[in-house]
Amino acid sequence: MANTGASRVGHIPINLALLRDAGTLVDDSLLDAAGRSGRQQPGQNLGLLCYNVTKGIRGGGNDMLTFPIYLDHHATTRTDPRVLEAMLPYFTEQYGNASSVNHAFGEQAQAAVDAARHQVALLLNAHHRDILFTCGATESNNTAIKGVAEAYRHKGRHLITVATEHPSVLGPCEHLERQGWTITILPVDEFGRVAAAQVEDALRPETVLVSVMLANNEVGTLQPLAEIGAVCKKHNVLLHSDATQAVGKIPVDVQQLQVDLLSLSAHKFHGPKGVGALYLRRKEPRVRLEPLLHGGGQERQLRSGTLNTPGIVGLGKACEIAREEMAEEAARVAALRDRLYRGLLDRVPDLYLNGHPTERLPGNLNVSIGYVQGEALLLSLPSLALSSGAACATKSNEPSPVLRAMGRSDELADASLRFGLGRFNTQEEIDFVLEELPKQIEKLRLLSAAWQGRTPHPV
Ligand SMILES: Cc1ncc(COP(=O)(O)O)c(C=O)c1O
Repeated sequence: MANTGASRVGHIPINLALLRDAGTLVDDSLLDAAGRSGRQQPGQNLGLLCYNVTKGIRGGGNDMLTFPIYLDHHATTRTDPRVLEAMLPYFTEQYGNASSVNHAFGEQAQAAVDAARHQVALLLNAHHRDILFTCGATESNNTAIKGVAEAYRHKGRHLITVATEHPSVLGPCEHLERQGWTITILPVDEFGRVAAAQVEDALRPETVLVSVMLANNEVGTLQPLAEIGAVCKKHNVLLHSDATQAVGKIPVDVQQLQVDLLSLSAHKFHGPKGVGALYLRRKEPRVRLEPLLHGGGQERQLRSGTLNTPGIVGLGKACEIAREEMAEEAARVAALRDRLYRGLLDRVPDLYLNGHPTERLPGNLNVSIGYVQGEALLLSLPSLALSSGAACATKSNEPSPVLRAMGRSDELADASLRFGLGRFNTQEEIDFVLEELPKQIEKLRLLSAAWQGRTPHPV
């Protein structure tokens, strides 16, 4: 798929004209107003060009929509203003190094890092000393997989993971394979799920680690992690989970899940980019880890490097907000997602849900649309910021490996849209999608010979 980010945003003026051409969404007065007032909105949408359109949306009255409408919350999220506010002093006033504690600056930074460690631990039902700060989930996953492999290589050289894992899990596994490890990659069912029994059957005496994600970043499917945790516990094998898409969105309790290591990233739940954490169990069992980074010995010698105090403060604040607001937010976002799905089902024939119907993230909707080319559809939707798959895969022309692993045909895997809804989405935005998307699909299908002479689609 083509990169759907900057290039599409760069075409906004043309896109507004396209919107007018579509006839129903943007009338001339709206286009004129947007043309005159179209300007960068400081602080909005990460500084991208935004156009506030305050009238002319059909049925919208005075409702205000900001384009493009952001529906790519699996790729990243807007930093919550409350998070940013908590971080700012640690850039400008309390800029000490948390390891340099011979003066007030360092002490303040250390106290802020300690407080954040407690906030992260509280969200996960972990002990605060079990939290290591990293620069994000890619580092956490690499540290967990390579670090455990290195520390336990005397036990054996076998690892188990799943076909639909994120590249930051599959990549370190491939690296180990090149070093002579054996990696079992478990297949998933049509919903993207792996069963605990599959994990149990794949275990060997020399298995060192099982790594299974909690929630998938493309289709939102939740894995039965507590059941897998029980199996690993029974057989005395360590379990790591990439919970990057789940933390902050659904309850994640490391005791209940019986995981030994767990990765998370602040920017996936309205925290800043470039900061994450690794949960590392210290007791029953005590997990040993070879560090990836050697140097100053920060983070209990396990992750050297000066701590990113503002980022860590932001991660802590994002965890605190999530803990307080998750239940209400998940219900609200899931209701918007369901409205979107039902609305699309009503308006678009040949539309297929990807992922599990109920065991999925509240903000995820992934659909394949028959007789439409995915990239063409995305290009026809300049008013929507959404993706056809994982952000890190949008530069590849291959159909999504996740959808392929779930048994989708190449054609339907190629015609998929991933909606990622989040904290700041509104019903008005969803209703706009429900007007705009079916219209563009219809237009593209009118150009498709296959659609004209269609037969029921092979799923
Ligand atoms: C499931 C999953 N794991 C890991 C990552 C990597 O996270 P980060 O951007 O913090 O390195 C992502 C981000 O796309 C993800 O979705």
